[in-house]
Amino acid sequence: MPARIFVSILKISPKFKKAVWKRVYQFLASKYQTEDWTFMNYGYQSLNESEKVELKKEDEINRFFIQLYHCVASAAELKNKMVLEVGSGRGGGADYVERYFQPSKMLGVDYSSNAIEFCNKVFKDSSVEYKLGDAENLPFENESLDVVINVESSHCYGDVPAFFGEVKRVLKSGGYFSYADFRDKEPFERLKKDLVNSGLEIVNSTNISKEVLRALDDFNEEKMKRFGKMFGSWLKKPLSEFAGMKGSSIYEDLSNGNTVYYHYLLRKN
Ligand SMILES: C[S@@+](CC[C@H](N)C(=O)[O-])C[C@H]1O[C@@H](n2cnc3c(N)ncnc32)[C@H](O)[C@@H]1O
Repeated sequence: MPARIFVSILKISPKFKKAVWKRVYQFLASKYQTEDWTFMNYGYQSLNESEKVELKKEDEINRFFIQLYHCVASAAELKNKMVLEVGSGRGGGADYVERYFQPSKMLGVDYSSNAIEFCNKVFKDSSVEYKLGDAENLPFENESLDVVINVESSHCYGDVPAFFGEVKRVLKSGGYFSYADFRDKEPFERLKKDLVNSGLEIVNSTNISKEVLRALDDFNEEKMKRFGKMFGSWLKKPLSEFAGMKGSSIYEDLSNGNTVYYHYLLRKN
């Protein structure tokens, strides 16, 4: 099927989009068991040189990805709180939050069973609980969590308003939802309406496209080296798109403003 038709179908059918992304993440987690690949986001780099997230030496290798988590996690108080990450991927983000923000319990859910298996192997000594779950049908009781975080995952969902409904259901009253993701212009207008209609109060919203782009720029060379070692040549092109390398569509669209990347903090009243 020509790539353009495939992309159009992804845009038209949310269910198909969700199923395709699931296949992608199932494939990546089963095929690439590389234990030091634990993040899958575009990263974040502050434009203010003096703003530097303090990290332990062993975490420096993941600095850009962690900085995106820092942006999301530091927006709400997490200490001694029940915190859930939805779309925890290869587990590095939930592990970072658990080690640096001292929640009473850190949970991660993902709809890729292979990713969950990977996390339970790589982070077997961590106290983070990784479990299988769909963002649109979260496996948690009503009003059982203090904070939900979500990093670069919701663009894969079939029904984003259903996800927001689930976040509202599992959050305790006064709980926070800290959320970061990208959208093209038109879907972003829809997302803003969905957030307004979510029943959660929008505390603040920040356009972080420049910071994400800066991370893509600063990490490009190193990412090429790491990907070059991991992936065969037939996968290099699709994966450079996936990873947002310089010249990829996502890189160009973030540069020219056709795609925006936002952080939102919302509160359940
Ligand atoms: C781009 S990765 C980001 C992973 C992680 N947040 C990070 O920043 O490293 C998106 C993740 O969302 C997960 N995901 C997509 N749709 C989901 C859904 N409906 N429910 C739960 N997880 C989902 C994918 O399996 C994948 O692990």
